[in-house]
Amino acid sequence: MTSRLRPLDPTRYTPFFRYRDGRLHAEGVALDRVAARVGTPVYVYSRAAIESAWKRFDRAFASAPHMVCYSVKANSNLSILRILGRLGSGFDIVSAGELDRLRRAGVPGRRIVFSGVGKTREEIREALRAGILLFNVESEAELEALAEEAARRRVVASAALRVNPDVGAGAHPHIATGRRAHKFGVDWSRAADVYRAGLGMPSIRWRGVTAHIGSQILSLDPFRRALARLEALIAQLRRMGVNIEYLDFGGGLGVRYGEEQPPDFRDYGKLVAGTARKLGCRLLLEPGRAIVGPAGVLLTQVVYKKENRGKKFLVIDAAMNDLMRPALYGAVHPVTAVRRTSSRERWTVADIVGPVCETGDSFLADWPMPDVESGDLLALWGAGAYGFALSSNYNSRRRPAEVLVEGEKFRTIRRRQSYADLIRGE
Ligand code: LLP
Repeated sequence: MTSRLRPLDPTRYTPFFRYRDGRLHAEGVALDRVAARVGTPVYVYSRAAIESAWKRFDRAFASAPHMVCYSVKANSNLSILRILGRLGSGFDIVSAGELDRLRRAGVPGRRIVFSGVGKTREEIREALRAGILLFNVESEAELEALAEEAARRRVVASAALRVNPDVGAGAHPHIATGRRAHKFGVDWSRAADVYRAGLGMPSIRWRGVTAHIGSQILSLDPFRRALARLEALIAQLRRMGVNIEYLDFGGGLGVRYGEEQPPDFRDYGKLVAGTARKLGCRLLLEPGRAIVGPAGVLLTQVVYKKENRGKKFLVIDAAMNDLMRPALYGAVHPVTAVRRTSSRERWTVADIVGPVCETGDSFLADWPMPDVESGDLLALWGAGAYGFALSSNYNSRRRPAEVLVEGEKFRTIRRRQSYADLIRGE
């Protein structure tokens, strides 16, 4: 309500979304055009933003032999996987479903690494059949299962052990993974024993070490500490005669949603590539959010304005089922109006909420907004990663459409679900 309100301007930190003639554009496409054709809510991604992020990330590691293995879980739309595949990306998967997507996108097995604490026998078999580059093994029991399945197929499985370096990292307790108490990987103090066990298995070929310590990490420190532990472990393993060719350092680099200041790709690259060079390892990186997060917005429409005891609410047509991150992690996705009116416009603060019957269905509280009306379009920023991928059909809401912008053009890369889609299989 005051003139001192300082709304955030996310266009300051991406060249791919900007206001032209008072309308928010993704590349050359005005977002109101997308809404008119495809409806709302809709995820809108910029192809140039995705490609540019991947290339910048890749370049940051140029000083070491490496492969960027995009983490499919962040955004698994087939069109996006194809775009990254064409750039030469590798991929990090966590399920046979993700493997199936990559097959359909034409990605060869030798560009795929498989992470995850609970790979089933069936998933292991699928991945062996696909001839993937590396199994990131997370327990002794999984190692035995992998050895058996590989022996049965008369192949040798390439494996890395996921070690848990016991460093704290990640923006929210639910996305930190590298502490002793977490279910991920094998405690680093026990790693050598598991490698030793694997040496006695003829169908296992150790080729690497892997760690992934968390997500939305905003400082290089935890990475530095994890690397120090991995360095010591690799030296020990080599003394034991284990061949460590790959260092798979996982993902986790944070992005800017609002006021965060994540490390620059180049500084991150320098740190990690430097260690890999020193160790003589080929590097594998598994970024998800850093590649696609800032490349997408969730486009939505104001359904109603309302006021309760002086508190203003904007009820929008997107809900927690479309974008879970605020409800799950208290994540802040800035919101701006698609149409920017004059600089003299009146600002107010409002809670931005969805229509789902849960108090948690709230995107932002006391957020500075221009005086928008019902029917006006809003953009929720930073929605390219873990946006659509985490969406659900809660409240029998159809999942939103996804649109890819390419220069002056845009196309639907996933149509909005129909009501028939909702009851399929029931
Ligand atoms: N590698 C492994 C083994 C992972 O578990 C993950 C993410 C990644 C790579 C990619 O991490 P990224 O570079 O995107 O941070 N749903 C949460 C994030 C969960 C991350 C899970 N693992 C969110 O919306 O913040």
